[in-house]
Order: sequence, then structure tokens, then C-alpha cells
Amino acid sequence: MKAGIIGAGNVGQTLARLILAAGNEVVMCNSREPETLSSAIETLGKGASAATLAEVSEQDIVILAVWWDTVPKVMEQVGDWSSRILIDATNQLTFTSGSTRPIPVKLDGMTGSEYVSSLAKNARVVKAFNSLFGQFMDGEVNGGNRVLFYAGDDNNAKKTLHPLFTAMGFYPVDLGGLKEGGKLMQVGGALNGKHFIKRTEDMCL
Ligand SMILES: NC(=O)c1ccc[n+]([C@@H]2O[C@H](COP(=O)([O-])OP(=O)(O)OC[C@H]3O[C@@H](n4cnc5c(N)ncnc54)[C@H](OP(=O)(O)O)[C@@H]3O)[C@@H](O)[C@H]2O)c1
Repeated sequence: MKAGIIGAGNVGQTLARLILAAGNEVVMCNSREPETLSSAIETLGKGASAATLAEVSEQDIVILAVWWDTVPKVMEQVGDWSSRILIDATNQLTFTSGSTRPIPVKLDGMTGSEYVSSLAKNARVVKAFNSLFGQFMDGEVNGGNRVLFYAGDDNNAKKTLHPLFTAMGFYPVDLGGLKEGGKLMQVGGALNGKHFIKRTEDMCL
């Protein structure tokens, strides 16, 4: 399997490492020419490549790992997702002038991933990874596996992703749809920034 990753920063590169370690390939893009990622691709090693947004978004499974304010532009450029799976790793945070920390964006009752889904024409959106801080997107950890919450309205998409998440070292937990599950996972939600470990010994019970 070759996963597409839109955004090659902290989240994009961390997830690329885990996907590659699970025996897959990744193709990534940033906001610039693919050549600007040559050193990151070399560091990621075998199975990693850089391409344009158009090529990256053609993969059957694509991760969205850009800042919130960039999402509309990316979705406009991609156009129709033709039922491909889009993993939304974004958080609805924006920088206002003068602030050093990002602040949450209000969406009139919509959850962040419902909003992304409304822009991502015909994508099967699954929210995942956003609730973990970058340093805890570590899959297998000493003594067990990092719990990965995910949510989505398309059950087949979630069924497709579950084995990938497991192969990446995570202990995936389906929280339901984008409205209920997404609300728990997003900024301000009860499970945002919560880093649980499923201990290996528990699995033997
Ligand atoms: N960092 C965390 O701990 C963490 C954890 C969970 C979720 N998140 C969420 O994940 C998202 C990414 O965070 P990050 O920390 O990885 O950010 P980051 O390190 O700043 O990386 C952002 C990436 O997006 C790329 N990008 C910008 N505009 C683009 C475009 N039009 N097309 C394609 N790529 C574009 C940037 O490329 P250029 O270098 O060319 O600008 C960069 O590679 C955010 O929504 C954040 O809230 C972050």
C-alpha cells in the first residue's frame, strides 16, 4: 500500500516513519516543489517519495497534515476525491495577529472533521491522530501500544484503516461518527491530548 501525505512537517513525517516501518510506501507533498523535500525523503529512506499535491491526493488512503487555515485551499486544489479515504489529522486552530499560541476556531456547531468533510468533495473522511501530541504519535511503546482514537461516518473506510493503524503499532479505538466521536477528539474535547497506553499484559487476559 502507498499512502499519500499532504503536509510534510512534524505530523506528516512522524506518520510517514510509522507507515514505512509497517512495510508500506508513502508519497508526500508540502506547499512547494517536490524537490524541496529531497533531504526529508532521503532521511525517511526506502519506500518514501515526494510528488505534487495532485499525485499525492490520488492515493487510495491520504493523510491531511496541514494547518487549519490551509485546508480550504488544499481541498479546492484537489477537487473530487472520488470516494478515496482522507484521514483528517488537523486541529481547528488558527493564529491571530499578535498571538503566540494558536486559538480554536468556532464552527457553528459543526465538528472540525465535519467541516473538513464538507470541503472534501466525495471523500470518505476519518478523523485520526489529531488528538495525540506529536511526541506521543509513537505506535508501539515500552510496555504496550499507544491508544489511537478515530472516528468516521463510513464504516468500510474505518474497517480498511483499522489494520493499518494496528500495523503502525497503535491500539485503535473507534469512537463512532464524525459528530460524536469527532467532538470527543477535537480541540477542547474530553479525549484531545490524552495519551493512553494499552498495556501488552492486558491483551493476554
Ligand atoms: N504538531 C503536533 O503535535 C500535532 C498533533 C496533532 C495534530 N496536529 C495538527 O496537524 C496539522 C499539521 O501540524 P504540524 O505540526 O505537522 O505542522 P507543520 O510542522 O508546520 O507542517 C505543516 C506542513 O504543511 C505543509 N503545507 C502548507 N501548505 C500546504 C499546501 N497548500 N499543500 C501541501 N502542504 C502544505 C507545509 O509545507 P511548507 O513547509 O512548504 O509550508 C508543512 O510541510 C495541524 O493541523 C495541527 O493542528 C499537530
